[in-house]
Amino acid sequence: MALKITVIGTGYLGATHAAAMAELGFEVLGLDVVPEKIELLASGRVPMYEPGLEELLRKHVAGLEGSTGRLRFTTSWEEVGEFGDVHFVCVNTPQKHGEYACDMSFVDAAFESLAPRLKRPALVVGKSTVPVGSAARLAGRLAELAPAGADAELAWNPEFLREGFAVRDTLHPDRIVVGVESERAEKLLREVYATPVGEGSPFVVTDFPTAELVKTAANSFLATKISFINAMAEVCEAADGDVVKLAEAIGHDERIGKKFLRAGVGFGGGCLPKDIRAFMARAGELGADQALTFLREVDSINMRRRGHMVELAREAVGGDSFLGKRVAVLGATFKPDSDDVRDSPALNVAGQIHLQGGQVTVYDPKGMENARRLFPTLGYAPTALDAVRGADVVLHLTEWQEFRELDPAELGAVAGRRVVLDGRNALDPSRWREAGWTYRAMGRPQA
Ligand code: UDX
Repeated sequence: MALKITVIGTGYLGATHAAAMAELGFEVLGLDVVPEKIELLASGRVPMYEPGLEELLRKHVAGLEGSTGRLRFTTSWEEVGEFGDVHFVCVNTPQKHGEYACDMSFVDAAFESLAPRLKRPALVVGKSTVPVGSAARLAGRLAELAPAGADAELAWNPEFLREGFAVRDTLHPDRIVVGVESERAEKLLREVYATPVGEGSPFVVTDFPTAELVKTAANSFLATKISFINAMAEVCEAADGDVVKLAEAIGHDERIGKKFLRAGVGFGGGCLPKDIRAFMARAGELGADQALTFLREVDSINMRRRGHMVELAREAVGGDSFLGKRVAVLGATFKPDSDDVRDSPALNVAGQIHLQGGQVTVYDPKGMENARRLFPTLGYAPTALDAVRGADVVLHLTEWQEFRELDPAELGAVAGRRVVLDGRNALDPSRWREAGWTYRAMGRPQA
């Protein structure tokens, strides 16, 4: 009989994973502790902007016209415990307030609620990004709490999806990594992932600590790559070099690769910044902090990018102060094709300028609602054109396709001054310059 799957936590990761499991043919039950979220999902809508996710959900949510009916949602732990052969724990692990360490309270709470309801054989699979050593600890807790005893087992299966590509990354992952302690657990997970593995996704089997570390190591490497190119951007700026050409040229070396070498205002979001910090904190606890001191530098290069953009903007409006100056900010999300504004470089820059007396107006294609909630005192405009109206300087801080397609001549007609700072090196300098703009990018020659 086909496996029955539950997904605990229906944020970015959980909602996508649940829909993907239904797409792979399994009966799926999603659980969240927030009833409003469950109601929304059960009606075929997702509480975030993620291309393709709503369509996939609608294809499977029970009760919707034409759906397979394979996907249902609940707030009941009892139901989840009775239903599932495999339970994926997908709750989030944010940064602790005022600390580098990871907040495990949602993961711990999920295990405390689920384990006592596991009365029959089941595999619990952790997907959340956790400090190394958590799986071993949670396996112990599971053994203590589950009525099924040894028939309730743990595996760790980190998730590598990117926002904006969540559906694709889940259905066609670059690799599937599983940390297991028995053949039975490996066999069950091979069954779950038979389709992507059959289509060529590598299946890497390892132990708990390695599986946990693969995720934090991968994100640390990506963050390091971005900070490396941003450090090169700093040097390029000092030496009048062009970091975009430099990245292209070093990227031709296959050992380096072209991806993740886009210099600009740096990385943000709900993963890279908090993951490298939690990794440093955990290494410290393990007595291995020296191994990761370089991540402190990666973090500070990254944060320096935001400050640097504020300085470039100050220079652009005359040098001394933002008082009485109008600043248009194009972009609010931490990256395009997402409505996520968590630790967004764009909003951080906007907020700094606002605090220094600038009159900031933000426009973003999808992130306005979340941005307004987080930064209610900033100004917001319904279109890019409206944001730019009367501005002394325009900051391009999230590289949405919509911004690439803007007509610089049309914007120039309404701007106070034609000065644009491209914080993502993504606009076409010649188009903007031809329309009479002073175009400045990060780590590129000014002229
Ligand atoms: C990341 C990892 O890529 C993913 O594998 C993991 O599961 C979760 O964390 P995500 O946070 O969705 O995914 O975004 P990602 O595409 O990695 O971008 C992160 C940040 O880096 C964004 O702010 C982006 O603008 C920035 N970035 C990315 C750069 O500044 N330059 C680059 O070259 C690439």
